[in-house]
Amino acid sequence: MKANEWIDLRSDTVTRPSSGMRRAMANAEVGDDVFGEDPTVERLQTLAANLAQKEAALFVPSGTMANLLAVLAQTRPGDSVILHRDAHPYQYESGNMAAVAGVLPVTLPGDFGILNPENVQSHIDSGADHHRSPTTLISIENTTNRGGGAIYPVTTVQKLGEISRRHGLRLHCDGARIFHALVELGIPLSEYAQHVHTLSFCFSKGLGAPVGSILLGDKQTIERAHRFRKMLGGGMRQAGVLAAAALYALENNVERLKDDHKRARIFREELEKSCAISFPLPSPTNIVYLDVSDAPSLASRLREWGILVLPVSKTRVRAVFHLDIDDGKLHRAIEAFRNVIPRCL
Ligand SMILES: Cc1ncc(COP(=O)(O)O)c(C=O)c1O
Repeated sequence: MKANEWIDLRSDTVTRPSSGMRRAMANAEVGDDVFGEDPTVERLQTLAANLAQKEAALFVPSGTMANLLAVLAQTRPGDSVILHRDAHPYQYESGNMAAVAGVLPVTLPGDFGILNPENVQSHIDSGADHHRSPTTLISIENTTNRGGGAIYPVTTVQKLGEISRRHGLRLHCDGARIFHALVELGIPLSEYAQHVHTLSFCFSKGLGAPVGSILLGDKQTIERAHRFRKMLGGGMRQAGVLAAAALYALENNVERLKDDHKRARIFREELEKSCAISFPLPSPTNIVYLDVSDAPSLASRLREWGILVLPVSKTRVRAVFHLDIDDGKLHRAIEAFRNVIPRCL
């Protein structure tokens, strides 16, 4: 089967750059960004900073690096960072905050990947007792990956912002999929950004770019992050070809995220009619989790139908809707699921 014939629902990172995006990349004006001379990177950073109404922005290769730079730039080794126990940096970033930044992750529960501000407040360590690890950063994720694509209520982020300021801490938002939240709520990026010190988002999740994320914040913090980017080998030379893809993604692929949410909803509604499947979490955006009796076996049976899903545990699979899944592919996926999952009598 050719790559573009698969119906790949494993992640929204699997999209391939469209011909329009490839043209934009081919035509990009470039320079050496390590010398600060790439005009397309500069244009992207300025646009992103303006959208968030933050002082500065830094283009980085990945969401993982953006999160790590946020930690490195806003903590010291031995500090503690409060985050949800399902948060991406804790679950899926190779333990980098402990291994590289030397901080102690303090993980908390919360419905659908969302932290409860009162609970966060009660876990803040002032560091007055030298036996303990002072909290200097709170990190949230919007939308929540393992929480089923849940959207952080703006009021919750506002409360966390107030708590962080009251305690002299920093608040970071891993906004890998923040545009999914924004199109659903119909609000601008700055609405969330005003409550956090740093915010990152990805061009390669749902927005269709092959690579790239951005970190936003005040000048001093982004300066520090820039130094750490260099230290980690994340300085990129003629990165304008990548920044051009990111600019194209921002200009063309944001509003259409609503289509992915609609397809996720239809997919779920159609499959809810099957008995041997349940949906453990709400699916307000593009991520749908399904509980089944044997996730790896379901994934391999679906593979025979040309459908790829991601088993995330023995009994849970994930299906994610994105730019490369149109209505035709959606309906083929529903049909395949119906064929491999037993129906109710
Ligand atoms: C919520 C979230 N944050 C961060 C990342 C890391 O991004 P990257 O794969 O670009 O390192 C991901 C990746 O899927 C993610 O889902």
